[in-house]
Amino acid sequence: MTMVSRITYVAGVLLIVGGSLSFELTRFEQLNEAKKNTFIKIKNLNVPAGVTLDLTNLKEGTTVEFIGRTTFGFKEWDGPMVKITGKNLRIAGVKGNLLDAEGQRWWNGRGAEQGLRKPRMFEAIVDDSVITGLNFKNPPQACFVCNWCHNVHISHLNVDAKDGRNGLAFNTDGFGIGYAKNITLTDSYVYNQDDCFVTGAGEDILVQRLTCEGGNGISVGSLGGGAKVERVTIKDSKIINNLVGVNVKTGWNVQGALKDITFDNIELVDIQQFGITVHGNEGHPKFPGGDPTPFPIENLTINNVERKFERSWRCQRLGMGRSW
Ligand SMILES: *[C@@H]1O[C@H](CO)[C@@H](O)[C@H](O)[C@H]1NC(C)=O
Ligand SMILES: *[C@@H]1O[C@H](CO)[C@@H](O)[C@H](O)[C@H]1NC(C)=O
Repeated sequence: MTMVSRITYVAGVLLIVGGSLSFELTRFEQLNEAKKNTFIKIKNLNVPAGVTLDLTNLKEGTTVEFIGRTTFGFKEWDGPMVKITGKNLRIAGVKGNLLDAEGQRWWNGRGAEQGLRKPRMFEAIVDDSVITGLNFKNPPQACFVCNWCHNVHISHLNVDAKDGRNGLAFNTDGFGIGYAKNITLTDSYVYNQDDCFVTGAGEDILVQRLTCEGGNGISVGSLGGGAKVERVTIKDSKIINNLVGVNVKTGWNVQGALKDITFDNIELVDIQQFGITVHGNEGHPKFPGGDPTPFPIENLTINNVERKFERSWRCQRLGMGRSW
């Protein structure tokens, strides 16, 4: 095709503006066509039931923008509802965007494993990329996962599963980052019913200005199987009305290691159980009792973690660990 004017209209959907290709994806059938471009605008898209919005193998350097409300059909399946892979990508939500999974159609208070099968919501496996400004609403179970990601800056994400409070939306983990390297997650918010942020493997992870409400706190652990978690810093964050605040955990009867883990300047407000917990036997039949599995935790720093609106600090032995 030739570019005869500033804007050329081809097949009803392809816009060429100043030489950069931009495709507006409004109907799911256009997906393969959209992926041939390096600027994809996903606008008010309805994704059919039981299929992934498959943004895998995007061209290097692609920008994806989410505009308006993205919705998904209902089916019992494992998901993910959205999957993105590629290199040097920019994944951005335009002001007012909403990825609305309408998880209330699946929630039954029994979590990911029981009753209805529930799809995971969003999965990215990307390198040298930026993910910013996405608003997620009512994930059926785990919301945002960036496993095997490298050199990724994630910012201004919102996870809102408030409609599922009091256990209805159990297992709606906010952010999961595993087997990843050099990741920053900043200026983000989660209201959910499980871990706000969790990592079980990876290195050079910085979480800053994260606000967590309603869930199970921020967890740094190891998935076992030899998985190491190294150089993880969580700072300048706030955990409100969660079951626990800061949770450092290692599994029972598994192998792995934690090294250079820092929590700095964390405000804990109205935590229901423990402000800080460190334990070495998650999964033990007698948990939180029972013997811990020997497991190296090296250079764990917990600095300036403040708990508010509590009459007294509790202290209780938990396996080899302690909880405050
Ligand atoms: C870490 O990732 C950022 C992008 O978020 C990049 O600018 C930086 O160069 C990366 N650092 C290393 C050591 O690769
Ligand atoms: C402990 O970890 C911090 C980063 O969390 C690092 O700056 C410091 O050098 C480490 N200290 C030792 C003794 O390894």
